[in-house]
Amino acid sequence: MLELLPVLRDRWSPRGFDPAHRLGRHDVDVLLEAARWAPSAGNSQPWAFHVALRETPEWDALAEHLAGSSRPWASQASALVVNLSHVHVEDTDWEYSEFSIYDLGQAVAHMTIQAHSMGLACRQFRAFDKDAIVQLLEVPQHWDVVTMTAIGRASSKAVRGPRASQRDAVITWDCCTDR
Ligand SMILES: Cc1cc2nc3c(=O)[nH]c(=O)nc-3n(C[C@H](O)[C@H](O)[C@H](O)COP(=O)(O)O)c2cc1C
Repeated sequence: MLELLPVLRDRWSPRGFDPAHRLGRHDVDVLLEAARWAPSAGNSQPWAFHVALRETPEWDALAEHLAGSSRPWASQASALVVNLSHVHVEDTDWEYSEFSIYDLGQAVAHMTIQAHSMGLACRQFRAFDKDAIVQLLEVPQHWDVVTMTAIGRASSKAVRGPRASQRDAVITWDCCTDR
C-alpha cells in the first residue's frame, strides 16, 4: 500500500467494539482537541460535538435512538459522539458557511485519525433517528446533526471492508487524454 503513514494505512471502521473497554475523560479531551485543530473555511470552525460515555445517563438517552442497523455495534462502543454542523446564521435562513458540513467532516476525520493513533477505532454513521436526537439535545435551528461516531476498541471479530482502486478515484477528462 505505497508509503502511507501507518495511521492512515491501518485506520478502518469496525462494525464491532470490545464491550469491556472504557474511555477516560482525558482521552475524550484529546479526541476533541484533534477535531479543534482541523482546518475550516475562513477559520469558521463550524462544528460542535456531544460526547456520551457508555454506562452514563447521557449514553442511555442517545442509545435509545440508534437505528436497528447500528444498534448491534454502536451499543458496544465506549463513546458515542454526535457531530453537529453550524449551518445557518442564528434566527435566519442564511447559510452560515458554504463549507460547514465539509469542515465538520474534516474535523471528524482528524478525530478518527487521532483515535486510531491512540489504539482506538471509530465508525461514523447516520443510522439513527435524527429528529429524536435534535429534540433530545435541544439543538437550535441554526445547527444540524449530521452524523454520529462510535468510538472504542475494535472487536477482534470485526472485519475490514473492501476499497476501490486509486485508479477509480482519479478522473481523467477526455480533453486531457489527447495532449
Ligand atoms: C458520513 C458517513 C456516514 C456513514 N454512515 C454509516 C451508517 O449509517 N452505517 C454504517 O454501518 N456505516 C456508516 N459509515 C461508515 C462507512 O460505511 C465506512 O467508513 C466505509 O464503509 C469505509 O470503511 P472504512 O472506514 O473501514 O475505511 C458512514 C461513514 C461516513 C463517513
